[in-house]
Amino acid sequence: LLYLDHSATSLPKALGVGEAMSKALTFGNPGRSGYGAALDASRVMSDTRCALAELLGMEDDSRLLWTSGATEALNLAIFGILKSDSGAHSHSGARVISTNLEHNAVARPLEIGRQTKAWRWDILDAVAGEFAEHLEQSLALEKADLVVVNHVSNVSGHRQSQAAIRGICLKYGVPLLWDVSQSVGCEPLVLHRGEMLAGGAHKGLRGPMGLGFLAVGEGLNLEPFKFGGTGSASESLDLPNFWPDRYESGTPNVPAIAGLGAALASFSPADLGLRQTELQHRRDFLWDSFSSDSRVQLIGPREGGTALSLKLEVDSGRLAQLLWDQHEIALRVGLHCSPLAHQSLGTFAHGTLRCAPAYDTTMAELDKFVLVFYEALNQIARKN
Ligand SMILES: Cc1ncc(COP(=O)(O)O)c(C=O)c1O
Repeated sequence: LLYLDHSATSLPKALGVGEAMSKALTFGNPGRSGYGAALDASRVMSDTRCALAELLGMEDDSRLLWTSGATEALNLAIFGILKSDSGAHSHSGARVISTNLEHNAVARPLEIGRQTKAWRWDILDAVAGEFAEHLEQSLALEKADLVVVNHVSNVSGHRQSQAAIRGICLKYGVPLLWDVSQSVGCEPLVLHRGEMLAGGAHKGLRGPMGLGFLAVGEGLNLEPFKFGGTGSASESLDLPNFWPDRYESGTPNVPAIAGLGAALASFSPADLGLRQTELQHRRDFLWDSFSSDSRVQLIGPREGGTALSLKLEVDSGRLAQLLWDQHEIALRVGLHCSPLAHQSLGTFAHGTLRCAPAYDTTMAELDKFVLVFYEALNQIARKN
């Protein structure tokens, strides 16, 4: 298998993930019991929380919340902040600004808020590299309650400047939510005051599916999104008023948390800079391999993240199927759950063929991919 779909999920997982997950099946429920199996579960939860908080440069690991995935983390952040007193308006009539590259995990919550809670959702261009300038102009005219930014696009690899956008949100006092689904584990990330990072365990971090996180910076408060048992303050019908319990009702996914713990132990935070360099090196290679052929249009900047999209003269679904059938090369075609991004990139409604190598995909593998890609392209073109 030549796996080039790391933007969808990582494959294989980091060494030790499967073993840690099956060991966790012998653990109890972490809900405050004092016997060994329950303590094993509590320990793996707090060790993994601590390790991920450290990776994200957080001082207070209780503000790192476990969720079922990036999607739930983004929902918690969006609905939680717009109901809380961190946003200037409460729930109804709030103003939200986002990029035009958002995944449906952001776009659908914002759309439902627009339809049912009279949120105003302003979408600013992030393709031409001037999102920060547009944001500054927009906030100078009118205050907003939340800014949501797709840090690295899962379609084109566009990366938004954290320093510039952070500075503007701080200046205007607007909470800032980063969707770091594509960048966490692939490059250094540090949580700052007044902002949130939402991501999953199963992509760049090389952990299992079914787990995500929301890291909430100092100065922000959230309203909870779900209500239930926490194993703490059980005498009260209200949720506990402390982090993280207030936001983590229900039995957590302990096997996935244990798996992520193993994935985090397999590298050091200092490796992230190198991973970013290695990814860029692979992107440069793909870019150079496709940029001079008029039948292939590159969708995305030369410098960017994991995902690089191609728009082809031929049917890209047919090409991807051929590469899978004849060479076991795994690629993804279509809209990648991001219709907004494709509208912004001019690739709606057919979408693109997405190549998403990892930092450790070998150059020999990419060489082979490019070779058989052109063979398949020629084969399809001849038949047309
Ligand atoms: C940019 C982005 N945001 C959010 C998500 C949602 O992640 P999940 O499906 O793991 O919850 C994805 C997954 O593809 C993504 O690429």
